[in-house]
Amino acid sequence: KQPIMVGLLGLGTVGGGALRILQNRVEDIAQRLGRPVQVKKVLVRNLQKPRPVVIDPALLTDNPADILEDPEISIVVELMGGIHPALDYIRSALKAGKNVVTANKDLMAVHGRELFALAEAKELDLEFEASVAGGIPIIRPLKVCLAANRIEELKGIINGTTNFILTKMTQEGSDFGEVLKEAQALGYAEADPTADVEGLDAARKLAILASIAFNSRITLNDVYVEGITKVTARDIQYARQMGYTIKLLGIAKEVEGKVEARVHPAMIPDCHPLAAVNDAFNAIFVKGDAVGETMFYGRGAGDMPTGSAVVGDIIDVARNIINGHTGRISCTCYHQKPVRTIGE
Ligand code: NAP
Ligand code: HSE
Repeated sequence: KQPIMVGLLGLGTVGGGALRILQNRVEDIAQRLGRPVQVKKVLVRNLQKPRPVVIDPALLTDNPADILEDPEISIVVELMGGIHPALDYIRSALKAGKNVVTANKDLMAVHGRELFALAEAKELDLEFEASVAGGIPIIRPLKVCLAANRIEELKGIINGTTNFILTKMTQEGSDFGEVLKEAQALGYAEADPTADVEGLDAARKLAILASIAFNSRITLNDVYVEGITKVTARDIQYARQMGYTIKLLGIAKEVEGKVEARVHPAMIPDCHPLAAVNDAFNAIFVKGDAVGETMFYGRGAGDMPTGSAVVGDIIDVARNIINGHTGRISCTCYHQKPVRTIGE
């Protein structure tokens, strides 16, 4: 049977993880779908750079047109990061009738509405599970599995780099700068780690989660942001003495018809489950009026966990292509009026 053809934009940490999973699971995926999924081309910036995964050099290109203008490619997977040129490439892919999978929260937090409108107009899928909390399933559970609920509160640890840094500072008394370098070497940090340590990465993710959870349009500008750069070893020590752990939290809740969304360091009692979430793990605690309290936990960053979410999206889109169902589950939150946030 004809393979579903995929074009990857980017082969760094996440692209490497996604490609490795597609290679390792090729037969299982073909069995699940009744058709194989094949990576036809991979866009990179530097063709000479060593790659984190075994790849036929003929698959690599530095020309985006080799993917965006190839009529055989039906799924474009954007794993480059940043706004430009990723935004233009996703727009071109959708305009050319290609479904899109992305891990790019910078883009979805700010340009999600425009991209959803493009995808819906063409009855295409635009999936972004990997954009929040790496390998943890959270976008689809909020969109589908918890749709019966009025969400009362959502709070969590949604940045792996800062949780890694705070864990090492708490448990080993490590120096901030040294641990940040370690997080970068492990592939957790963003290309510019300022976005992690200043809370911006978590704020982007919170804007995406809160939009879905409260079926509202919440953008990055609606989120109060404070990172961890001012947290000192002494703060951590004092908190420990009082039975608290310091974590960078993203919190969104409804208060008198408005949504309050904020990211900042918080003291969590040691008995709370979020206090035990260490290293680059993430956890999101969601309270719904019907389901009560739920918590989603797992690896929030890194090549294979994030690759897992990306490949899950690719399989989902491929299944929709096979069944002729693409574009059926849209993200309604982006159609809503901009929400009133507490800070206004
Ligand atoms: P990365 O390691 O820096 O990889 C980026 C890749 O994109 C590289 O292969 C790079 O090519 C390519 N690229 C960048 N700009 C390009 C351009 N203008 N033209 C062609 N190729 C270009 O980044 P990453 O950590 O994998 O992150 C990718 C995305 O996933 C980001 O949106 C990030 O926020 C998101 N994400 C990351 C994680 C994580 O744990 N790292 C988790 C969840 C989501 P070269 O290799 O040739 O330089
Ligand atoms: N830099 C991000 C983090 C990657 O540390 O959580 C996962 O989105």
